Amino acid sequence: MKTELSQAELSLQFEYMKRVRELLAQRYDHPPLAHVHSYGCQANVAEGERIQGMLAQMGYGFTDSPDDADFILYNTCAIRKGAEDRVFGNVGALQHNKRRRPDMIIALCGCMTQQEQVAARMKRSYPHVDLVFGTHAIHRFPQMVHEVLSSQKRVFHIEETENIIAEGLPIRRDGDFKAWIPIMYGCDNFCTYCIVPYVKGRERSRRPGPILNEVRELAAKGYREFTLLGQNVNSYGKGLDEPVSFASLLRKINEIEGDFRVRFMTSHPKDCTHELIDAIAECDKLCKHIHLPVQCGSDRILKQMNRHYTLQQYRELIDYARKKIPGVSFTSDIIVGFPGETYKDFCETLALIREVEYDSLYTFIYSPREGTRAAQMEDPMPGEEKSRWFQELLETQEQIGIRHNEARVGKVLRVLAEGEAKNKSGWLTGHADNSSIVNFPADQDLIGSFVPVRITRALNWAVEGEPVL
Ligand code: SAH
Ligand code: SF4
Ligand code: F3S
Repeated sequence: MKTELSQAELSLQFEYMKRVRELLAQRYDHPPLAHVHSYGCQANVAEGERIQGMLAQMGYGFTDSPDDADFILYNTCAIRKGAEDRVFGNVGALQHNKRRRPDMIIALCGCMTQQEQVAARMKRSYPHVDLVFGTHAIHRFPQMVHEVLSSQKRVFHIEETENIIAEGLPIRRDGDFKAWIPIMYGCDNFCTYCIVPYVKGRERSRRPGPILNEVRELAAKGYREFTLLGQNVNSYGKGLDEPVSFASLLRKINEIEGDFRVRFMTSHPKDCTHELIDAIAECDKLCKHIHLPVQCGSDRILKQMNRHYTLQQYRELIDYARKKIPGVSFTSDIIVGFPGETYKDFCETLALIREVEYDSLYTFIYSPREGTRAAQMEDPMPGEEKSRWFQELLETQEQIGIRHNEARVGKVLRVLAEGEAKNKSGWLTGHADNSSIVNFPADQDLIGSFVPVRITRALNWAVEGEPVL
């Protein structure tokens, strides 16, 4: 069941933030610095921004360098083994920081630490880590920091709670013109390869009121892009006292005043409706881009993955969207080498990719996750064979991506200038509404504004152009 954090609990956490601020003022003669790093998906980045918000209230300043930090927090990801290995390596390296500054605090949280075996390993083998908590305890972060500071003991909190939604916690955003807006938490889909439902708890939606207020406030401050986040945004609103569909939430956001654009992810094909596609077609602030992860092009494997759609249904959605939204672009996630997948299955994935012509793909080699159903399945295909398929997939998509980029030459795209281009002084980079990466020569003053850019050249993963000012 979903529960919103009570006012009393929220006030208690604000009280702890105040107490921590007092403790820190006694301990340091300068504002202590915190370094927060979130691994994994945007949902995690958004959680990291709430943690930063609470740390700011506790009196911490911020630093990009772990070496300067009095408080280091890694907000971890468990989606694939590689993601976890990276965290273990980076946490191991922090013992040097701790040796140099014994009074610093090292904290770990997120999807990885929600797993008991990981928390146990941290307890056993990483004695320099002071605080470990899971995804269910984030709203009690101030209390836990207080506990660490006042008891000088290591603190572990990974118990599952009742899937709380915490409105009203402070947020310190990384960007001042792009914002992540979580609209729901958790996942109930249990795709057989995926750890997320086990580490993020049950699916629950925020009420539309607080979401709309958040967008309204940020839009008034001049924010230019909002990305609405959920593991399956198409099932937004189910279970609320007054159920709302995702499409109707989008229409309400579209009515908010301001010069901004809206993206969302992730749209699960099994719950993607014509109502949603119609909303994208009709709302001028919604980007004409749909991230619609198919995962695999074989019906047999999709069934094993517990994805609940067939390729025919998926194609029907793509066709409908293409008909309703001229110029719509699609991106997708693909897993290569799911247990039992054959080269023939994989070739069906390649065929689908050639047929849909995605703008870009997020591609992954299957990684078994302890506790998931797929981890129990027979997986006879050797890793080298999967790597070869993976390479073939990348090459296939690269050709498609280049063709798409070439087709954009001569067109004018609206680009949000997001920062300076790497390795090219005097150039900026940003994303067009359709999500392609666009580089163009322009003054830094334009960062944070929409710029019309005429595309002059196609690169492999991006396009270049001239601002039309
Ligand atoms: N909720 C989103 C996905 C979130 S995870 C959705 O349903 O599309 C992001 C991506 O990671 C997934 O789409 C999948 O492609 C990939 N992924 C998840 N578990 C994986 C695993 N065990 N091995 C490899 N890739 C995985
Ligand atoms: Fe994982 Fe599937 Fe949920 Fe996405 S929808 S988070 S892939 S279980
Ligand atoms: Fe990773 Fe958790 Fe996101 S496992 S991908 S950080 S939901």
